[in-house]
Amino acid sequence: MVNRALTLLSVLAFMATPVWSANILALFSTFSPSHLIVHMSMIKTLADQGHNLTIVTTLKLKIAPHENMTFIHAPSNDDRLKAMNEGLEKLSREKLNMMKDIYNSVINAGTILGIGYDFVVDPKVKAIYENPQIKYDLLVLGYLGNEFQLGIAAKLDVPAVLIWAGGPITFVDDSVGNIYDPSYVPSITMAADPENQTHSFSWRIRNFGKWLVFKALGLALEYKMNSFYEYVKSKRVFGNDSNMPSYDEVKQRVSLLFYNYHSHSEGPVRPTVPQSIEIGGIQIQEKPTPLPVDLAGFLNNATNGAIFFSLGTNVKLKYFEPQLIETIYQVLSRQPLRIIWKWDDQKPKPGNASNIYFHNWLPQDDILAHPNTKLFITHAGKGGVAEAQYHGVPMLALSVFADQPGNAQLMMASGFGISMDLLTLNKESLEKGIQEVLNNPVYRDNVRKFSDLYRDRPLTARQSVIYWTEYVMRHKGAYHLRSPIVKLGFVARYNLDVFAILLLILVCSMIFFVFLLRLLIKKIRLKTQFKVKRE
Ligand SMILES: *[C@@H]1O[C@H](CO)[C@@H](O)[C@H](O)[C@H]1NC(C)=O
Ligand SMILES: *[C@@H]1O[C@H](CO)[C@@H](O)[C@H](O)[C@H]1NC(C)=O
Ligand SMILES: *[C@@H]1O[C@H](CO)[C@@H](O)[C@H](O)[C@H]1NC(C)=O
Ligand SMILES: *[C@@H]1O[C@H](CO)[C@@H](O)[C@H](O)[C@H]1NC(C)=O
Ligand SMILES: *[C@@H]1O[C@H](CO)[C@@H](O)[C@H](O)[C@H]1NC(C)=O
Ligand SMILES: *[C@@H]1O[C@H](CO)[C@@H](O)[C@H](O)[C@H]1NC(C)=O
Repeated sequence: MVNRALTLLSVLAFMATPVWSANILALFSTFSPSHLIVHMSMIKTLADQGHNLTIVTTLKLKIAPHENMTFIHAPSNDDRLKAMNEGLEKLSREKLNMMKDIYNSVINAGTILGIGYDFVVDPKVKAIYENPQIKYDLLVLGYLGNEFQLGIAAKLDVPAVLIWAGGPITFVDDSVGNIYDPSYVPSITMAADPENQTHSFSWRIRNFGKWLVFKALGLALEYKMNSFYEYVKSKRVFGNDSNMPSYDEVKQRVSLLFYNYHSHSEGPVRPTVPQSIEIGGIQIQEKPTPLPVDLAGFLNNATNGAIFFSLGTNVKLKYFEPQLIETIYQVLSRQPLRIIWKWDDQKPKPGNASNIYFHNWLPQDDILAHPNTKLFITHAGKGGVAEAQYHGVPMLALSVFADQPGNAQLMMASGFGISMDLLTLNKESLEKGIQEVLNNPVYRDNVRKFSDLYRDRPLTARQSVIYWTEYVMRHKGAYHLRSPIVKLGFVARYNLDVFAILLLILVCSMIFFVFLLRLLIKKIRLKTQFKVKRE
């Protein structure tokens, strides 16, 4: 009781700290609606706190107006967005293959840079950094291959915070200097085994190989970003400003990195710098909003429970063969449970089964929070998995591409459900998978246990956003938190020069030793020969 009163008091004290209204500029040139959802949850938190947010996005936002938010739409070249969507479509048709994924992201890197470039030269964005009408206190940059846009922070002379919609990946970690030790920190596509703190030789050698590939890729991307920044500068995008700092200098404006993960429950356990702030589950509402009336009726009446089926926003069902949709429909329409199916297209529905509710727009978080929801069939996007974990709903993952297979593997290894290959699905395997997750209580128990850990934190995700963002603004940047590692080059970072000197010393002393040994042997031989001669 006393404890609870104390907690309540500290929360009240936290809420009651005097607030000021800072001017914050948020730039989100991402083409991914699921990233934007995470970014906007952070922004809304700051606006609710009383700060004045100016939000510029490439995608058109569908969001309720807010008195403390000003929206600016800076659309990208349609051809580029189309190319990006076609790239995603091609990926989802093919079988999973990490090397292909990497190859495709490198191929798409040009398009991503192009989208980011269109964004900074948009007249509405140019107006912001060329003739700012108000004094900004902070730049929030949605991270996705667009660090050259930090030039805008230099132009406005404000600190910057990065926000990344997912969990730890090497490229993002490198921007603040988090340590990615390949002997125990799993690489993006490697699911860590939560039971095993020590890793087998084969695990480490695979992880090391992947780490090496991502490191090389990161260095190449960094090089590309640097030259792209110089290109943007040479195009006089930031004005005819000879004082514009170098890429290395603008990168130093990064004060914090917000991640969408919670290491204390999700892992991996790894060393992080004070600049990386975990706001896992920021997109999840702590209190669900009431469902639309028809959906609420449908779910409340689901006496046998309900299954929520959604493949997210990036993976559209139209990318898949009609046969696959038919298979899924056949199995789902036979279930005694009610089904809520996220149906993305204008296309006719696969059928009229009375137990299925099709809809284009569904409040995923609130559906998962509903006590009748027994199973979540998901593409294993980071957001959906986190929401299901938060609400304690077991999962059946049908992953397609990018980080999804890794999320699915990790989810399965954690015992929250099972994972199946979407492209080779048939009626029998799908039915078996659904029955396994519904009827074996181990999945629900595991995910409920996790849910308890996930919610147990000193500051909620929203409180962390407010505290740390205001911290940066109070101190005009959190540069004192920067790890020295970010200024070290690759050679210095891994002490390659020190090792080289040590090796040199070792080799020299060995040569010297051999030389000495030979001399000694020669002397002994001479002596013995001399002795023999004398005798
Ligand atoms: C907007 O900011 C003001 C302070 O600047 C605050 O009083 C108000 O509650 C905020 N509005 C909303 C909807 O949160
Ligand atoms: C909030 O920001 C907008 C620009 O996005 C600006 O027009 C407005 O004056 C600002 N409001 C305050 C109170 O500073
Ligand atoms: C943990 O690792 C050991 C050896 O590396 C292996 O034999 C064991 O099966 C692993 N445990 C689990 C739960 O995977
Ligand atoms: C840019 O500035 C330089 C000198 O700083 C000047 O010589 C040049 O004409 C300027 N170019 C433009 C396009 O204004
Ligand atoms: C839910 O059940 C009630 C009472 O049985 C019924 O009136 C209502 O129409 C049902 N709603 C839906 C959406 O099935
Ligand atoms: C579903 O019902 C609508 C009208 O009630 C009908 O036009 C459509 O053909 C039906 N679809 C299927 C797959 O039976």
